Amino acid sequence: MVNLPPYSPLSRTASIIGTGSYVPQRILTNTELEKIVDTSDAWITSRTGIKERRIAASDEFTSHMAAKAAREAMEQARVQANEIDLIVLATVSPDTFFPATACHVQRLLGAKHAACFDISAACSGFLYSLEVARQFICTSTYDTVLVVGADRLSSLVNWSDRNTCVLFGDGAGAAVLQYRKESRGIITTFMRSNGDYGNILCTPGGGCALPVTPENFVKRFNTIRMNGKETFKLAITSMQSAALYALQQAGLAISDIECIIPHQANIRIIEVLADRLKVPMEKVYINLDRFGNTSAAAVAIALDEANRNGRFKAGDYVLMVTFGGGLTWASSIVQW
Ligand code: ACO
Repeated sequence: MVNLPPYSPLSRTASIIGTGSYVPQRILTNTELEKIVDTSDAWITSRTGIKERRIAASDEFTSHMAAKAAREAMEQARVQANEIDLIVLATVSPDTFFPATACHVQRLLGAKHAACFDISAACSGFLYSLEVARQFICTSTYDTVLVVGADRLSSLVNWSDRNTCVLFGDGAGAAVLQYRKESRGIITTFMRSNGDYGNILCTPGGGCALPVTPENFVKRFNTIRMNGKETFKLAITSMQSAALYALQQAGLAISDIECIIPHQANIRIIEVLADRLKVPMEKVYINLDRFGNTSAAAVAIALDEANRNGRFKAGDYVLMVTFGGGLTWASSIVQW
């Protein structure tokens, strides 16, 4: 059992009324990576489950991918740009430090009536953003919120570091949330962080701590650093506790969940998690073989794919669970 803080259910429910996603055209296969670093398709496949990932074009920014995913979600939701009250965008690879990438997306969509901001919670960003959106909707501040998870980690990867460059890809996923009278929607969300572990997975440079200088650039401080083994262990324990917490909060058993969408980082992490939660792998949605780890976009892209593939029926419970740099971890249960 997890130690629960006091929980007061809000009187309004936020429903996901549309989803969308976008990945760049360019496919980078494991075999191609063999030409870039000392690696092999066999190593990457057996250690991670990843076969290929998408890489954005040089003029394709996080906001461009985000806007494409958002348009799909808005179309499915039948929501016009001028109806959006708020855009919450999760990313650790923004177009610019400021303006927020959410503002760039606002401009691309023409969502003139929206307030916009970014959330930085690495791979947990989409679930953090979903919860922020839910809070605004449930407190009656806003009715229609666009939530986007978008990352272009190819611009943060050190392409000579085989420990990390094989893992990541680019993409975006989006959801439109709206207040609906019926009670189906986001049932509960759990979020936690532990800054003590910030240095096991980070981009140390580029901010004010290690600004972009010729010296720091040569040391590649502006690229991703990761302690893979430590991240692996913490990913499993944090996602397990997040999933159990959400279930407990919602008063549901794991057998009530129709589909689990975990963060798409590594198939071995997901298999151990499924085993610990006693969930058959058929209930777990996987697309990391095609897209690698797309950070804040990963769960959002998977949610959209599962939705469009007809994986959910009305009333099904869907559990999303993530972990990422920070460290951050989160889980969310949605009744479809
Ligand atoms: N190709 C070939 N060999 C490699 C590669 C590669 N791409 N990468 C590492 N190796 C080597 C290592 O150098 C090491 O060699 P050595 O023993 O001679 O030193 C050997 O393989 C074993 O390395 P390990 O780190 O033990 O490999 P492990 O089985 O732990 O797998 C991995 C590494 C895949 C990174 C794993 O630890 C992992 O998935 N960790 C979690 C990573 C993760 O999920 N990160 C994303 C977090 S989400 C976010 O917030 C962005």
